[in-house]
Amino acid sequence: MKLVIGIVRPERANAVMEALFRADVRGYSVSRVQGHGGEQERVQTYRGTVVKMSLSPKVRFEVAVSEPFVQRTVDAIKEGARTDEVGDGKIFVLELAEAVRIRTGEKDEGAVTPVAS
Ligand SMILES: Nc1ncnc2c1ncn2[C@@H]1O[C@H](COP(=O)(O)OP(=O)(O)OP(=O)(O)O)[C@@H](O)[C@H]1O
Ligand SMILES: [Mg+2]
Repeated sequence: MKLVIGIVRPERANAVMEALFRADVRGYSVSRVQGHGGEQERVQTYRGTVVKMSLSPKVRFEVAVSEPFVQRTVDAIKEGARTDEVGDGKIFVLELAEAVRIRTGEKDEGAVTPVAS
């Protein structure tokens, strides 16, 4: 299992959700975050020291998936988030040690695969 983290422009969040839906990826968490992407124009110099880097609002997706879903999740975030302008965001893929569905106690692959309710 992997945890796919996508940090995207807020105005692209709906497009990312649509792309995830088309890729049959159903479970994820979304939060508003503030980030800095190393933009030079946001760096200021004060008495010879580089200070004051302002933050941009971003939306962070966290998607826990089994291995067969990793690439399509990355692709969906990329497709939904991309504008080809600087600041389109980043995707990080982390090893995920364990997942538990609280209601049933199912673990790992069984817990990250959606069930019909
Ligand atoms: N190394 C990083 N670690 C954690 N979060 C990051 C990192 N780089 C970027 N981010 C997050 O992603 C957001 C968007 O970054 P951004 O798209 O500007 O990255 P970039 O590498 O500068 O790419 P671009 O050249 O397209 O601007 C940042 O505001 C921040 O929230
Ligand atoms: Mg940037």
